[in-house]
Amino acid sequence: MKYVFPENFWWGSASSALQSEGEGYYTSRGETTWDHWFASQPNRFHQETGPQDTSQFYRHWQDDIQLLKQLNHNSFRTSLSWARLIPNGIGEVNPEAVAFYNQVINELIEQGITPFITLFHFDMPMAMQEMGGWENREVVDAYARYAKICFELFGDRVLHWFTFNEPIVPVEGGYLYDFHYPNVVDFRRAATVAYNTVLAHAKAVQAFRAGHYAGEIGIVLNLTPSYPRSQNPEDRKAAHHADLLFNRSFLDPVLRGKYPADLVTLLKDYDQLPKCQAEDSSTIAEGTIDLLGINYYQPRRVKCRDSIVNPLTPFMPEWLFDNYEMPGRKMNPYRGWEIYEPGIYDILVNLRDNYGNPRCFISENGMGVENEQRFIENGKINDQYRIDFISGHLKWLHKGISEGCNCLGYHMWTFIDNWSWCNAYKNRYGFIQLDLATQKRTIKKSGEWFAITAINNGFDE
Ligand code: BG6
Repeated sequence: MKYVFPENFWWGSASSALQSEGEGYYTSRGETTWDHWFASQPNRFHQETGPQDTSQFYRHWQDDIQLLKQLNHNSFRTSLSWARLIPNGIGEVNPEAVAFYNQVINELIEQGITPFITLFHFDMPMAMQEMGGWENREVVDAYARYAKICFELFGDRVLHWFTFNEPIVPVEGGYLYDFHYPNVVDFRRAATVAYNTVLAHAKAVQAFRAGHYAGEIGIVLNLTPSYPRSQNPEDRKAAHHADLLFNRSFLDPVLRGKYPADLVTLLKDYDQLPKCQAEDSSTIAEGTIDLLGINYYQPRRVKCRDSIVNPLTPFMPEWLFDNYEMPGRKMNPYRGWEIYEPGIYDILVNLRDNYGNPRCFISENGMGVENEQRFIENGKINDQYRIDFISGHLKWLHKGISEGCNCLGYHMWTFIDNWSWCNAYKNRYGFIQLDLATQKRTIKKSGEWFAITAINNGFDE
């Protein structure tokens, strides 16, 4: 069967500043929470590899853009580093950073690759974190200022902006489950961080609208469809709660301009509502987007709790549901995540039927693999498993589009194997293999497959 995608479909991949640039804190930008955390607790990072050990996009940007071209990308998403542009988050703009990002943006456009730019991909300037990070509304305003500066500097050429990448992840990682700095475990503080991130997003959107810049603005959310173990009302309620906390806490404000009433009631019932100010609801209402980026890796399987909650322990999401390891589910044997291709279709249908069919695209989808060198054949990684992963998802995406879903593109995570937060190089995701020591880049079989698929605007199977 032939899977042909709509005209002008966006084919590409995504990356982020901290994960690829290198040339970090010690040389040319302000400190981020990641530099700080790595300096104090390197053992929290796989093989003690920190954010300075990247594919050095800061130096290799020209060659890398040539490689993007070779992979027939017509679009590419990366982020700007707040700490590079404004080293302390709120002060002077660093002219070297402006020159760097201008070069990158201009070269992408010159090569026929549309730049998609994220303003914040997990890399909080340390000076902002020292003020309390997203718990402090002054940081929200500093972010809105940074966003406006970016629109002024690059908005004549960048036509697709994203305020945040996966904003729920720093909430979960930094304030619930201890896998991001500042390693707090406290639901109420997590709720404040999530709420203030929505405000920061909305204020950036307001600045964008007020400036009448040429392009469009959106956000990138990691959506994890929550499937109940059974149709039993208790399991369904558990899945509904997981959906409210981990998807709709961002999805509803950015698409509907308000929080789901059920989520507000839920947090009220458990006395976990963040502090609001009178003008917040109108700010949030003005934060609706033009374009939604969807990161989809795996679904969430949910069941009702097996045991009674001990009310003396602090409230956590797990009071409301248990994760469920569904027997027989298909797993990625090289990363331990579930692979469920129809999830991408379910996300699109939900957006179509319940959110007015917004303009959207798949902004990340990908397959991490441990020890990927074991698959080298004749000098090249033969990652047929990744080709199967991509084509499997593309088929369901194609079905969604043919049923009227407004999905405009597909970006893979990621272009070149990159440094990934605490996991560093544990899981490789790239179309291109990176030899960290020599910086040699070698296109994998999946990269070749993707280049052909992109140029043909689809594939045959
Ligand atoms: C995505 C993030 O969710 O997951 C990326 O947007 C990240 O920044 C990727 O690198 C892979 O994560 P991991 O933990 O498998 O290396």
